[in-house]
Amino acid sequence: MAEKALLVVYSYHHRNTEAIAKAIAPVLGAAIVKPQEADPNELAGSELLGFGSGIYSARHHASLLDLADRLPHVSGRNAFLFSTCGAPAFAVTREFIFKNHSALREKLVSKGYKIVDEFGCVGWNTNSFLRFFGGLNRGRPNAEDLKHAETFARELQANKH
Ligand SMILES: Cc1cc2nc3c(=O)[nH]c(=O)nc-3n(C[C@H](O)[C@H](O)[C@H](O)COP(=O)(O)O)c2cc1C
Repeated sequence: MAEKALLVVYSYHHRNTEAIAKAIAPVLGAAIVKPQEADPNELAGSELLGFGSGIYSARHHASLLDLADRLPHVSGRNAFLFSTCGAPAFAVTREFIFKNHSALREKLVSKGYKIVDEFGCVGWNTNSFLRFFGGLNRGRPNAEDLKHAETFARELQANKH
């Protein structure tokens, strides 16, 4: 049976995006699955799909991009995007977040999905040399970030696109 709302999440670096997914999921009554476990045909049956991961080389994780390629064409289906990224907090504007989402957004739109909203925030990043200095954005996402994610989900729910 396809879920009404489902989150497809890949989060491995520090499980930053998993924390965001866990704030969003209960508001939407959504289950969380990994892209590797998701059946593309079953996903297409969900009324609202959320796709989230950390940002790697300025895009969502490859496993989400690959999954988007394997999705069947749909009509009248809604999706939303979310992510955490490791850039310095001052640089993480809405434009920056949207730019990082472009690759996945374009794939989903080409499959017929309407992208109803997008969320992003910073996450702890110890990639490469950053680990020698304790990383960037240590402690993020924090309680405030999780509150913002919850509010984002409430607005999604209220707008019922
Ligand atoms: C290999 C690698 C590449 C990354 N590339 C970027 C990047 O291009 N831009 C960015 O803002 N953060 C980048 N990051 C930081 C992650 O996006 C950030 O730490 C994110 O919160 C990790 O999410 P996760 O814990 O859910 O996997 C990168 C991290 C790793 C490990």
